[in-house]
Amino acid sequence: MENKELRVNGKRLRESLERMAEIGAIPGRGVHRLALSDEDREARDLFVGWLKEIDLDVTVDEMGNIFGRRTSKNNGLPPVMAGSHVDSQPNGGRFDGILGVMGTLEVLRTLHENRLITERPIVIVDWTNEEGSRFAPAMVASGVWAGALDRDWAYDRTDINGNRFEDELVRIGYKGQTPCRAWPVHCYYEYHIEQGPVLEKRGKVIGAPKGIVCLHWYDVFLEGVANQVGPTPMAGRHDALCAAAEMILKVNELPDRVGGDLVATVGEIENHPNSRNIIPGKVHFTVDIRSWDDDHAVKAWDLVRKDFEDIASRRGCPMSIEETWKVQHSPFDETLVRRILDAADQLGYPNMRMVSGAGHDASYMNQICPTAMIFVPSIGGRSHVEAENTSWEDCAAGADILLHAILHSAQEG
Ligand code: GLV
Ligand code: MN
Ligand code: MN
Repeated sequence: MENKELRVNGKRLRESLERMAEIGAIPGRGVHRLALSDEDREARDLFVGWLKEIDLDVTVDEMGNIFGRRTSKNNGLPPVMAGSHVDSQPNGGRFDGILGVMGTLEVLRTLHENRLITERPIVIVDWTNEEGSRFAPAMVASGVWAGALDRDWAYDRTDINGNRFEDELVRIGYKGQTPCRAWPVHCYYEYHIEQGPVLEKRGKVIGAPKGIVCLHWYDVFLEGVANQVGPTPMAGRHDALCAAAEMILKVNELPDRVGGDLVATVGEIENHPNSRNIIPGKVHFTVDIRSWDDDHAVKAWDLVRKDFEDIASRRGCPMSIEETWKVQHSPFDETLVRRILDAADQLGYPNMRMVSGAGHDASYMNQICPTAMIFVPSIGGRSHVEAENTSWEDCAAGADILLHAILHSAQEG
């Protein structure tokens, strides 16, 4: 391990996280900092200011991704890259994403104050709209950067109020000039909270995922016939919400039916006109299916889609379906995974291999360069909610692992 005594400043990392948590703060110690909102802008401005304080060369690309590049002995070599996202879920937590950005910043601050110049440049990144809850899909800007998604398609995505992604990017002042296109990268690390219960249950401090499950997103649109609830008899109704209700339960039963590691969720629903005395005439809901096995996820979808067709036809509610987004399961680079586990051993932290059930920009980065992630425990296994929490000691431990992983890779010739 390079400079093996070197450690990050856990207190400074905590202060950065606490300062960021003020932006979009909500009761219950969570944050509401949706992509391309005013809060996102405020967090970006603070972040960019911090990057400049340690002399990083800051660029913003045409998808709003922010990069801070640290100079090195050999600036011609492909850099080591690390980061995550500053946007949050609606009423989300104050660690998801921002821990990886502040953790990487803390690593760079530590190198800066120790005047350590590495062989390769190091680039910190904040990826735009990782969450995908305001503008679907998730990880959209790393997807465009990696060449997996189309920029103009991403620009045209709209939020629930019809605001376009590109217009919102311009509005907050983060539509940059640099093309959103991958350049050669030596390797990519993403530091993140686990967002599940495994590390805590197993008494481990560090997790090294062997990769990320596939994520398949669908949007289902149902047409019913709206009418007065009182005079309209029950027989012959075409109630779009009742059709949706049956479908949602089919999604919930799907993992039991098909077995394996699959999870399936309906998390979002819009009911029109959403009045207690009108039979629902229109419903939109989302389906999220995840598994390590892409084929298994596709077959499960085919099954449930057939159920949807039967329900729609029985209830007389015409249906249309959009296959919004698919990202394949992403097995990480074994050498880097091993490096993270070794670093955890050397620093004395109990550690384990695992799988990431959450999506991350690392999925797309893995298509560009060797990639790995570092996980720390989520207290109570809670995430995407205000109660999301991780101990400050664990935050610092994960940042120390990130420091040594980055240093190792950045010293490679
Ligand atoms: C990303 O936050 C996901 O949906 O896992
Ligand atoms: Mn995240
Ligand atoms: Mn998230």
